[in-house]
Parts: sequence; structure tokens; C-alpha cells
Amino acid sequence: MIYNSILETIGQTPVIKLQKIIDKSLDSKFAIYIKNETFNPGGSHKTRIAFNMIKDAEKQGILKPNTGQTILEPTGGNTGMGIAIAAAILGYNVILVIPDNYSSQKQKSLKALGAKIILSDSRKGGNSHGELAMEIQIENPEYVMLNQGQNPANPEIHRLTTAPEILEDFQNETIDYFIASIGTGGHITGIGEILKKEKPKVTIIGVQPDGCELLENKFFPHNIQGLAVGIIPKVLNVNIIDRMISVTFEESLQMMKNLSVKEGLSVGISSGANVAAALKVVEEVQQKKQLHHKVNILTMAYDSAIDYLDLFD
Ligand SMILES: Cc1ncc(COP(=O)(O)O)c(C=O)c1O
Repeated sequence: MIYNSILETIGQTPVIKLQKIIDKSLDSKFAIYIKNETFNPGGSHKTRIAFNMIKDAEKQGILKPNTGQTILEPTGGNTGMGIAIAAAILGYNVILVIPDNYSSQKQKSLKALGAKIILSDSRKGGNSHGELAMEIQIENPEYVMLNQGQNPANPEIHRLTTAPEILEDFQNETIDYFIASIGTGGHITGIGEILKKEKPKVTIIGVQPDGCELLENKFFPHNIQGLAVGIIPKVLNVNIIDRMISVTFEESLQMMKNLSVKEGLSVGISSGANVAAALKVVEEVQQKKQLHHKVNILTMAYDSAIDYLDLFD
């Protein structure tokens, strides 16, 4: 297939049924599916939102391609990757503010794409990068901040692309549970809203690091990159979340490793967190319910284990 640019290859990511993560004896009762967003250029679901936020800013006349305007964004790295890719094609400069405890591999990849990196002091809290980016924005009002946590173009692209892709793949299947981690809340909001309409029996579960109570605005320092960033983001529609499940860093890390070894899936820690949460659902359902039909659980893989190689022994 020939594409005009890398940007045309965003989306249409595969959904993969996990083979070995659930006990074989439960095969007839449960299926866990993972929509593998690592297949996007830039290696994560955030390339979808990065390109959409830029397109939206261009539509509004805030950004003009090939003028060398500077885009400034606080990011854990994945949105930054998407912005850097889109900016390379569309002719923008990019400055990304990243917490200093986040993946160093990702920082190197971002530099390789031409982005300038500024590190924030992670000891100042989960939103240290957001706060520093705001200070830089005030000193440089000509910079354009896309502000993924507040930008409606973030959940919108998941309503327009990710959710319809899921509906097409599951047109003949139920989705009993949709399990998603929450950073900006963009994808759980966009996908969750559409699933609630089109698959009304679905239970939407948000995943949070153990110790955080996101819906109660309680945050605790943690190491699951990309999740629970210290504020309830504006784009998060809390009304579509039926409940939250907490997972520890250790559970997430172990599951990240299991997914590599057992399933051949190279995915990151938050993806591990999602599957760890899915297994908690399997356990609960087994204990509580008389099963009348096979339970389908859908979750997401966000980015690749390559960004977290330091965490493998
Ligand atoms: C690795 C990772 N996992 C999960 C998420 C959560 O995605 P969202 O911002 O759509 O809530 C992010 C967000 O940055 C992320 O980088």
C-alpha cells in the first residue's frame, strides 16, 4: 500500500485475543482482547490525538503549516512523539516538557525526531511537567500549547476513529467490559461514550495506580507512566465510568513481562496495568456470577516495552 505520508497510516490498529494469560480451563468462559495501539506511527494511541489537535488548531487558524511556529506541550512522551512526527511533516518546531523520571529511551527517540526536550522536576508532583509548561507558555506567549488534558480534539478523535474501529471488529460479538487506564482520559471518554450508546450493556472500568482515588481527586506518587497525572483532566467524562480498579506498579510490571514472554506482545507498563485489571475482573466474575454466556473483556495496549527496557532484568 502506498501512502502520501506517515500521517495517513494512523489508526486501523489490530485487536488481538490473548492466548495464554488466562488459565486454559477458563477459555470457554472468558476472552480478553487487546487493541494494540503500538501499531500506530510513533508507537502509541497518542499519535491519533496529536495529529487531530494540530489539524484542529490549523482549522481554527492558530497554527499555520510550514511557518516554523513552535508547539509547546507537557507530555509523558507519547503525545510528544505524535506531535514530533506530525510537526516534521507539517513544518513546526516542537518543545516538549517531560517529567525527569519518565522513560529516557523515549526522550532519545523524541530528540531524534527533532524535538527539544525540557525536563520537569518529578519531585514536585504528578503534574510537574504541566506546571512547568505553563510557566514557559507565560514567558513565550507566541508558543502554541495544544493542552491535551483540556483539548476537545483529544477525545473527539477516539469517538471518530478508535471507537468505530472497535465497533466494526466487534459487530458480531458482545463487549461486556471495556477496561482503560486514565491519563488525560481522552480515550476512555471517546471510546466509552460511543460504546455506552452502541453496546449499552458494557461496563466501563477505569484503571488507576494503587493508592490513587482519581474520581475523588486523590493522588499518590506512583511509577505507572502516563496514568493519574495529579488532576482530574477536563476532557475526562467521569459519567461514563462505571467503576475504577486499582493495580500496583509491581502487578503492572509483572504483567508487562508476562505479555512479552507468554503472548509475544511487546507493550508498556500501563498496558500491563490494563491486563492485570482484566484478570481481577475475571476473578471477580468467576466468584460472583453464574455465567450465562462467554464474557468478553476488551482493553488497550498503548505503547511498547521498548520504551521500558530498563525495567527488564
Ligand atoms: C503509556 C500511556 N498509557 C496510558 C495513557 C492514558 O491515555 P489517555 O491520555 O487517553 O487517558 C497514556 C497517556 O499519556 C500513556 O502515555
